[in-house]
Amino acid sequence: MFDYSFGQQSLDAQLDVLGIRSAFEKNLARAADHARTLAKGGLLPFARQASNGPDMGPIAEAADRITERFDDLIVLGTGGSSLGAQAAIALARYINGRGTEIHTPDSLCPFEMDRLLFELDPKTTHVLAISKSGTTAETLAQLLACRAWLETAVTDEELGDHFTFVTEPGERPLRHYGEKLGSPILDHPTDVGGRFSVLTNVGMLPVAVSGLSVEGFRKGAEEVCADFCANPETAAAVVGAALTQTLHEEKGVTQVLIMPYAEVLRAFTRWHGQLWAESLGKDGQGTTPIRAVGPVDQHSQLQLFLDGPNDKFVTIITVPSFGKGPRIDKKEAEAYGLDYMADHTIGDMVTCQSRATQATLRKKGRTVREIVIDQLSEENLGGLFVSFMLETVLTANLMGVDAFDQPAVEEGKILTRQYLSALE
Ligand code: PA5
Repeated sequence: MFDYSFGQQSLDAQLDVLGIRSAFEKNLARAADHARTLAKGGLLPFARQASNGPDMGPIAEAADRITERFDDLIVLGTGGSSLGAQAAIALARYINGRGTEIHTPDSLCPFEMDRLLFELDPKTTHVLAISKSGTTAETLAQLLACRAWLETAVTDEELGDHFTFVTEPGERPLRHYGEKLGSPILDHPTDVGGRFSVLTNVGMLPVAVSGLSVEGFRKGAEEVCADFCANPETAAAVVGAALTQTLHEEKGVTQVLIMPYAEVLRAFTRWHGQLWAESLGKDGQGTTPIRAVGPVDQHSQLQLFLDGPNDKFVTIITVPSFGKGPRIDKKEAEAYGLDYMADHTIGDMVTCQSRATQATLRKKGRTVREIVIDQLSEENLGGLFVSFMLETVLTANLMGVDAFDQPAVEEGKILTRQYLSALE
């Protein structure tokens, strides 16, 4: 699974160096109390999804129907209806990948839609439209565009087979659309919000299509939930929430940086960015999520992280990679004066780079936690998902905001519709 570490100087010692021990202990006690309350109530619905439930059959059936007949899958959805799936299926490039290629045009873009529909063959493409509300304009516009494109190549009788829908039960445009087409419709759980839905069919249907194991993701998440309930004082999510809030209150930390040293987690940083920002940015409060990936961002953002304002809490995620990847030929390296890399692997280099980044950040007085995941696996990614969701919920509780709504973004949606209707 995964471990947390705070470098040679443990969290305990850092609290004294920063002079935040007593504030941290107060926040830790509050976060642990809330964790106990959540545990008593059977955890939150998004975490209950960690247990393999009755949705397993429909997910597997829908995935089989898609992979048996189609070469490409377009997943239409935005925000929480896409980012979790993207973060999860990134793993399929490295392990267990299956044949069907998945495309996730999550940001409405005319050029991207033109490109995608030009490149794909409508006869062998399936469209999975995901929207909890069933009313999101971007997803519905893409859906209508995809239908028109499919109709150029498939008959009316075949059309319904090219679609699958995930949306909440009840009267909503997306559901109505799916019913009229006679396509399979999976119910979006009504008690799980978009950005918390990665472990539901929203994230897990694309996972199943990708060839990854839904059971694996949920098993990892379940283990983290069990630890959370059993050890509310020490669970990673509890400590993380208490520390973030303390650094914010006592040390002026206004930004949380997530920087994995693994390309596979790039999409995970986008998922986390939405989770954190949309859940916590309320009532004039919130800390800003920042995304980076190592080592590439050592060559772009690291200067700021090291030498700019000391207002960030840094989380580095690493996967042990000593001995992994291509080995650099000794003779060749030495011939060019590159002795330091001779006979080492790319993984050796990345490991040393991550260590060096952490050491320099700490030297500059930045608070750094390292999350080490022991290997790239569905279990570990499932565990990370739920741990960060729990950390977000606990942080919201410490801040006194509701993690589950997003009232401020609704106004823009209403205005967009008005502007569009007024266009000549
Ligand atoms: O997390 C959220 O609630 C949002 O980001 C939604 O996921 C996003 O707005 C898409 O909504 P819907 O699934 O209703 O189309």
